[in-house]
Amino acid sequence: MKRIEWRIVVLAIVGSIAPAMAWDGGGAQVRNCTWCHGAGGQGYRVAPRLAGQRRDYLESQIRSFREHTRDNPFSKQFMWGAVAALAPQDARDLAVYFASIPPKPANDGDSSIAARGRTIYLEGIPEANIASCYACHGPNAEGVRDIPRLGGLAYFYLKTRLEQWGQGYHSGMATPMPVVARSLGPREIEALASYLSFGK
Ligand code: HEC
Ligand code: HEC
Repeated sequence: MKRIEWRIVVLAIVGSIAPAMAWDGGGAQVRNCTWCHGAGGQGYRVAPRLAGQRRDYLESQIRSFREHTRDNPFSKQFMWGAVAALAPQDARDLAVYFASIPPKPANDGDSSIAARGRTIYLEGIPEANIASCYACHGPNAEGVRDIPRLGGLAYFYLKTRLEQWGQGYHSGMATPMPVVARSLGPREIEALASYLSFGK
């Protein structure tokens, strides 16, 4: 826990100076992202993996940070500033770049509840009105177009994202996820996040 808090403090400092930095193209652009998102964009602490994510999804999220419609606390604190000076073409180039990197799975969920998560992922819970995730995110959670890859993302990130839609964040975004996530209970969220963290 101590280490996580320490990292958040560092991210807060970095987040506050990032917008003031000069934007000089090429490798420097990528480094502006990877000092939070980890080497090769594989994710680090609260900053999620970007490697292997869908290009269209990456672009749509950058746009939503710029337009302040993705408005959860970490997005506000870290991403609004990080993309404020990003030209649309640079956003596209970065999205293409990160999408092309082979992703590494986080493998950090609770393996004892992963099987339950897999069942919900594939079948939903019809009696509780919970949709199957498979229908949109694909048989291997690899995503398609602007629907994100979920397989191998970190447990903490997946869990927090699934909780936040139910808490009313991102209400200005046109996405089915608030409706999908609203009926998920804490145990279902933990099971799904665990299963997905072991994916690809
Ligand atoms: C100061 C740290 C920091 C920097 C610098 C930073 N990010 Fe982020 N980024 C974060 C955090 C933290 C999140 C998670 C936000 C959340 O919890 O919803 C995030 C989320 C994202 C997401 C959403 C991913 C998803 O799966 O939904 C994208 C896309 C993204 N960042 C792209 C970038 C790009 C491109 C750059 C470089 C221009 C960049 N980030 C620089 C910290 C940072
Ligand atoms: C009707 C289609 C649809 C269904 C069904 C669906 N999703 Fe999504 N999901 C989306 C879309 C579209 C996005 C991108 C949202 C955005 O742009 O903010 C998304 C985003 C997400 C994200 C954010 C990933 C990231 O990188 O931040 C998570 C986590 C997620 N979905 C989990 C699930 C789970 C778990 C289920 C099943 C219980 C599910 N989804 C069912 C369409 C769907």
